[in-house]
Amino acid sequence: MVKKVAIIGAGISGLASIRNCLEEGLEPTCFEKGEDVGGLWKFSNHAEEGRASIYRSVFTNSSKEMTCFPDFPCPDDFPNFMHNSKLQEYITMFAKEKNLLKYIQFKTIVSSVNKCPDFSTTGQWDVITEKDGKKESAVFDAIMICSGHHVYPNIPKESFPGIKLFKGECFHSRDYKEPGIFKGKRVLVIGLGNSGCDIASELSQTAEKVIISSRSGSWVMSRVWDEGYPWDMLTVTRFETFLKNTLPTVISDWWYMKQMNARFKHENYGLMPLNGTLRKEPVFNDELPARILCGIVTIKPNVKEFTEDSAIFEDGTVFKAIDCVIFATGYSCAYPFLDDSIIKSRDNEVTLFKGIFPPTLEKPTLAVIGLVQSLGAVIPTTDLQSRWAVQVIKGTCPLPSVKDMMNDIDEKMGKKLKLFGKSDTIQTDYVVYMDELASFIGAKPNIPWLFLTDPKLALEVYFGPCTPYQFRLVGPGKWPGARNAILTQWDRTLKPTRTRAVSEAKRPQPFYNLLKILLFPVLLLAVLLAFY
Ligand SMILES: Cc1cc2nc3c(=O)[nH]c(=O)nc-3n(C[C@H](O)[C@H](O)[C@H](O)COP(=O)(O)OP(=O)(O)OC[C@H]3O[C@@H](n4cnc5c(N)ncnc54)[C@H](O)[C@@H]3O)c2cc1C
Ligand SMILES: NC(=O)c1ccc[n+]([C@@H]2O[C@H](COP(=O)([O-])OP(=O)(O)OC[C@H]3O[C@@H](n4cnc5c(N)ncnc54)[C@H](OP(=O)(O)O)[C@@H]3O)[C@@H](O)[C@H]2O)c1
Repeated sequence: MVKKVAIIGAGISGLASIRNCLEEGLEPTCFEKGEDVGGLWKFSNHAEEGRASIYRSVFTNSSKEMTCFPDFPCPDDFPNFMHNSKLQEYITMFAKEKNLLKYIQFKTIVSSVNKCPDFSTTGQWDVITEKDGKKESAVFDAIMICSGHHVYPNIPKESFPGIKLFKGECFHSRDYKEPGIFKGKRVLVIGLGNSGCDIASELSQTAEKVIISSRSGSWVMSRVWDEGYPWDMLTVTRFETFLKNTLPTVISDWWYMKQMNARFKHENYGLMPLNGTLRKEPVFNDELPARILCGIVTIKPNVKEFTEDSAIFEDGTVFKAIDCVIFATGYSCAYPFLDDSIIKSRDNEVTLFKGIFPPTLEKPTLAVIGLVQSLGAVIPTTDLQSRWAVQVIKGTCPLPSVKDMMNDIDEKMGKKLKLFGKSDTIQTDYVVYMDELASFIGAKPNIPWLFLTDPKLALEVYFGPCTPYQFRLVGPGKWPGARNAILTQWDRTLKPTRTRAVSEAKRPQPFYNLLKILLFPVLLLAVLLAFY
């Protein structure tokens, strides 16, 4: 019998899930509280309750070749880093091309999801939805939660003594939309994540003074990497991942910090992370260092105390006459329509096998899609997550025992704490995670075999960017266009910038660069031998 799947949310996770259900013969119904697809990327002038909200100027920090759906490359004239409206255009194109809109019930809120009384045998769920004030209930064989995790603001006011006394304006970054109203104002931004840095850089063009307060610092990277290529096209590769995971820790930590400090010394800008070797998510911001150099933005340590109009920092310095405090302090994840104990099954913390399946459910019929963070883009991650999830829901790819899943969660958590630190427990290593999911469904590219059968492709797959197409070369839902998409990915990268061609286009050759590096000691040895 065809299984009916309820999908909550029509952002990129929801669209990937609808599409993968259809590919595997499941019957999806997607409920979306908004009026359009795109979730977070559908810009609105006002933050809406229960929905992610972005500011007008957000650009992607992952490049188009790394960010796209794996069988739907972005048009070659699209810029590498897209304005939110451009990504929304792409997402809409995908939904139309794959004919997904007819499976979505817009303006419909999922208000509760409960196990049916016979759940232990059927694995079914009772879903209550609301549209125009009218409630409806329906039974589904499985649930895919795609409601996003940048929705509920984390405003840690309890960590800031005196904040209640502060008389100025005070709000979370999700409520920030544009800089106009801050003209001539003195603004304190708390938090050195991507939101805090974007907002501070933008505000600094109109505000009188902007200070960012950071409790633990961050690495601030540029979207523009070596020789001007997009950062992720050069750093998110299988080869780099192999080096990172096999080199002795001291060497890989040293190399990491050297790369991070290549553009400017973070300690000289007050940005240096307290623990520089932690691989917590860097900030991608091309303007911030220049703003700091020009003295329009200043970085300060954590706030010790607020008064009516000032902030006293931990180093004893004071920012006076503040008009506005913006908490760019990130988000907490919440699923108000679901019993908390299902996802937070241990110590009130998210406990999910591979970040997707609650391990202790009697039946594996609930999957959370999109609740991971990595240096890779979210679209290909959610595509692979939902491709695996539908196989589990169908019963063609059974989960391990509860004990094995719990052990895996504990083992991964131990590694994550060491690598990413306490604040980033949903962080994961992109290539490793993608390969892990892909291997469950036979979609992981077999690199040695590729080198034997298709060396040209193998070189690009191993040394080149780990683009989404790699995960549609083989396995269920394999895409015949994947090989060609990989071999033409640099052409699409260069197309939007080489708008005044002066010589032949050059693309990075990481494999040949490696050969050159290896050749150097050999030549040195030969010279030494020749002389002695
Ligand atoms: C400012 C910002 C910039 C980012 N930039 C990048 C980037 O450059 N590259 C990248 O890969 N990632 C980026 N991310 C990560 C981002 O979270 C993902 O790109 C992606 O948008 C997440 O999609 P999603 O579908 O999981 O969630 P969302 O986009 O949040 O979509 C969830 C959908 O579910 C709906 N919904 C929620 N609850 C219900 C309910 N109860 N009933 C019905 N519908 C419901 C919402 O209305 C929404 O449409 C960024 C995040 C932020 C905050
Ligand atoms: N495309 C883009 O350009 C773009 C723009 C904005 C956001 N994003 C993405 O959206 C996601 C959310 O980003 P975000 O910047 O909103 O949140 P975030 O990455 O979680 O950063 C939150 C910041 O607040 C600080 N913080 C949290 N609690 C604090 C406390 N109690 N006291 C002091 N400081 C505290 C954190 O410090 P610690 O580091 O010490 O924890 C961190 O600096 C990220 O994945 C990000 O990449 C992308």
